[in-house]
Amino acid sequence: MRRSRPGGRFRTAVACAATAAVLGPLIWLWQDSLLPAAYSVMDMGYADYGGGPRSPSAHSSAHPSTHRGGRDVTELVADADRPADVNMTVVARKERFRLASGRAFDGYTLNGRSPGPVIEAVQGQLVQVRLVNESVPGGITLHWHGVDVPNAADGVAGVTQDAVGMGEEFTYRFVSDRAGTFWYHSHQMSHEQVRAGLLGALVVAPRASPGRADDVVALVHLYGGVRTVNGREGDVRVEAPPGARARVRVINTEYGILPAWVGGAPYRLVAVDGTEVNGPAPVRDQAVAVAAGGRADLEVTMPADGSPVRVHLGGPAGVVLGSTSYDAPPVPRPAATLDPLTYGTRAPLGFDPAEPDRRFEYAVGRRPGFLDGVPGVWWTVNGRLYPDVPMFHVAEGDVVRMRISNDSGEAHPMHLHGHHAVVLTRDGVAATGSPWWVDSLEVGIGQTYEVAFVADNPGVWMDHCHNLPHASEGLTAHLMYEGVTTRFTVGGPPGNRPE
Ligand code: C2O
Ligand code: CU
Repeated sequence: MRRSRPGGRFRTAVACAATAAVLGPLIWLWQDSLLPAAYSVMDMGYADYGGGPRSPSAHSSAHPSTHRGGRDVTELVADADRPADVNMTVVARKERFRLASGRAFDGYTLNGRSPGPVIEAVQGQLVQVRLVNESVPGGITLHWHGVDVPNAADGVAGVTQDAVGMGEEFTYRFVSDRAGTFWYHSHQMSHEQVRAGLLGALVVAPRASPGRADDVVALVHLYGGVRTVNGREGDVRVEAPPGARARVRVINTEYGILPAWVGGAPYRLVAVDGTEVNGPAPVRDQAVAVAAGGRADLEVTMPADGSPVRVHLGGPAGVVLGSTSYDAPPVPRPAATLDPLTYGTRAPLGFDPAEPDRRFEYAVGRRPGFLDGVPGVWWTVNGRLYPDVPMFHVAEGDVVRMRISNDSGEAHPMHLHGHHAVVLTRDGVAATGSPWWVDSLEVGIGQTYEVAFVADNPGVWMDHCHNLPHASEGLTAHLMYEGVTTRFTVGGPPGNRPE
């Protein structure tokens, strides 16, 4: 045995103290970041009242959500006595399947295919979808992206329901009160399940013209990194006679922006995120940038001479509209991109955003830290790391303004559940075109948007980035209404993992 000298012992002690001084706070930060095995999103982060009144059931860790009164999210449902107009069952499976192009893909199907069935409804109808999980491990849900459903039908595992385990089922009911292009997808482990195929299109036809036969759904999705339209690689051909008006409903289910442009005819951008554009002028030599999760309806009037039209979706391929010929050579992407801030003509918003009841800040940034014990450079909301993010509190009827900014060095397609927000300004420049209503808004690097909405749909709603891996990396916050509580938790026995 070697006797250590006193000096050596002293040096060791100093080294230990120095190590502890460095490691101590790191260990504390690491430990502090660990998420509990089950937690309510209502107990997450800090309450942000946006300058409005605090509710009596104020957010406080001293009063866990389970002890609060109020309406549970499961009570926020469509009229239970009303029979369904559209009624279907969707069965989810984990399996190897063939895309429309014949390529085999290991993923998930809905009724044996992916994308799942196109669900069609007419404005005002009650849609009822029974989801059966036959064989998807880890549980699933369905979220109705862009439809302002009652909260109980929002399909967020751990917030509005438990994940539907294998052998279980869940029924969604909502009124399709807004005509437009929407989609649905799993909101359990969504960054994995959406990519692997648990998604589909939902189209709500206007009451006035329920049978829009000229409509074309173009759901764009990457399967194993290969871009597809309605599950098909390469062109999708659709018959459209000369003079016909065709409406191509572009749905971007990818994680980044999708440029769409048209060769062979001008087009009009007639709807964004399920809202008609007011006074859409014909567009030439401009692409439309569709945010991740977003939709853009492009209307084309077919040339009288019978020549075909190519709607480019992200690249040379897309939808080819034609009759006698489908030989529409690709055209390069136009250098210019249509700006919805100035497109179309003004119209009343239906509410006054000038004197809002609440003003919120949703500043996206990035910094080093621990996320559930994992070191990294993570997304921040208002400077804080998940789960220490704001809980935006509102009361029913509030007019809400939100400023969304992005200093994170990457773009973020921000998606608020249950509401449509109207864009007021971008980088301080006021919107002057048609009211630009969004549910999925691309906030580019360095950009700042001001949006406004009316809090008219009580519940607990996610407000997150739809680049779904970003959401799973903590770019997620929630909006909650006074007097509403959720009994569901993230984690727990059902293994709820919304992102
Ligand atoms: Cu399309 Cu929260 O999702
Ligand atoms: Cu993001």
